Amino acid sequence: MEIIQDVFGASRVDAFDLDPDMVARARKRLAGRGNRVRVFTGDAERIDAPDETYDAVFDFGIIHHIPNWPAAVEEIHRVLKPGGHFYADEVLRAFILNPVWKTLLDHPLENRFDLYEFRAALEKTGLHVLSAESLGTWFGFYFATKTSR
Ligand SMILES: C[S@@+](CC[C@H](N)C(=O)[O-])C[C@H]1O[C@@H](n2cnc3c(N)ncnc32)[C@H](O)[C@@H]1O
Repeated sequence: MEIIQDVFGASRVDAFDLDPDMVARARKRLAGRGNRVRVFTGDAERIDAPDETYDAVFDFGIIHHIPNWPAAVEEIHRVLKPGGHFYADEVLRAFILNPVWKTLLDHPLENRFDLYEFRAALEKTGLHVLSAESLGTWFGFYFATKTSR
């Protein structure tokens, strides 16, 4: 989260995770930032914010955990202001289905995406992709902006 304020210059950040333990850890780590950061338990499939609230949304490795991940992409589009930015670092299908990682880590295995499928889902939702880079076939990094559909 720190990068959003320290590098991107955000004056206020809303940050959430589905897991209350992750939220508690983040709250502790970010306590020194006062009311410039609000950390809460939340679901990316049902983001607790009105339409067109945010200048930017950051996805730090969340969406590949969501069974119905296109619903989360729709939500991100909904809460972004027109012209707002979406940044994602994501874990791709080749990593999730790798025999070693599949045994060690807990991910949904159905309906995961590769670099191009996630890009296509963003475009379909009305997020125009300005950059989609991969690290091997395992990780994808995206920068997109909200346009009309
Ligand atoms: C790989 S961890 C990333 C954690 C953290 N963002 C980071 O960068 O260190 C994936 C996280 O996704 C969270 N998650 C899974 N489904 C979610 C959902 N529907 N909404 C919000 N967070 C979710 C999990 O609780 C978990 O903390």
